[in-house]
Amino acid sequence: MTKKAQVLGVGIIGGGFIARFHIKSWVGVRDADILGVFDPDAKRAREACALAKSLNVGEARPYGSITDMAADPRIGALWICAPNYTRGAVMEEISHAVIKGKAELVGVACEKPLGRNVREAKKMLALARKAGLLDGYLENQVFSPAVVRGKEIVWARGAALSGPPYLARAAEEHSGPHMPWFWEGTLQGGGVLNDMMCHSVEEARFMLTPPGAPRDVLTPVSVTAYTNCLKWQEPKYAAILAKRSGGKTDYLKRPSEDFARSLVEFKDRSGKIVVVETTTSWCYV
Ligand SMILES: NC(=O)c1ccc[n+]([C@@H]2O[C@H](COP(=O)([O-])OP(=O)(O)OC[C@H]3O[C@@H](n4cnc5c(N)ncnc54)[C@H](O)[C@@H]3O)[C@@H](O)[C@H]2O)c1
Repeated sequence: MTKKAQVLGVGIIGGGFIARFHIKSWVGVRDADILGVFDPDAKRAREACALAKSLNVGEARPYGSITDMAADPRIGALWICAPNYTRGAVMEEISHAVIKGKAELVGVACEKPLGRNVREAKKMLALARKAGLLDGYLENQVFSPAVVRGKEIVWARGAALSGPPYLARAAEEHSGPHMPWFWEGTLQGGGVLNDMMCHSVEEARFMLTPPGAPRDVLTPVSVTAYTNCLKWQEPKYAAILAKRSGGKTDYLKRPSEDFARSLVEFKDRSGKIVVVETTTSWCYV
């Protein structure tokens, strides 16, 4: 067995906020090391590499491009942790490097959301498949110990007495993103719906999926949703965003929704309807 097959070498694309969480969490991951980081901001790349080394999760080094990192035989998989507006270009470069024989990779995993819209998300998947790569989606909430244990208890105890659950509610709120790009609908893909509801819908769906059953036992059949900008387009809050971003973020002219709720109906394999209800907001004060 080659060294590459024994320990998966992972290269991280985008060494920002979420990359630091991946690196810190790697202390609980076996048989894979973080061996590289590419970020156009070289300082960010160096800092992320230093963090990985300090935690002993891999001899990470910065690379000058995605293609350079992918081409290094130490690297077997890439983690996409760059901003949403770069998804297409990043995946094009990975796919191109593999198809042209510059890189030999096992797979690619992408942070949420997969794209700014359904068209981009489908393109991401198509590019990964075209290059023959295994693909992963980095949704984290369904692995949270409280959610995993909560599901076990609901199904082992509650469902044993009163039947399988038919309604799951998920709510998530914070006071809004930490970077100016994240507030721009064109760059992020929208507001809180795209940013946080991808977690809530998946988590509630997970709770309703019988333990051990494949994810596709539940098929979405209808979606209703509501969005609004309740807080951040108010002049006093818009002024805070403008100040924090050096004038870049203008929620008086370009607001995105800071509140969203949805109701998603799923059909199980027997035809029974189960419902997911979510509420997400950037309005926490
Ligand atoms: N799972 C979660 O709970 C969670 C939480 C936060 C962010 N995220 C996701 O992680 C992704 C990144 O968000 P973030 O908060 O870390 O953003 P961030 O702005 O803190 O970090 C992004 C990094 O990517 C770099 N970058 C910019 N263009 C790039 C490119 N073309 N190629 C490579 N790197 C590039 C930036 O220099 C920056 O260092 C987003 O898609 C976001 O939705 C997920």
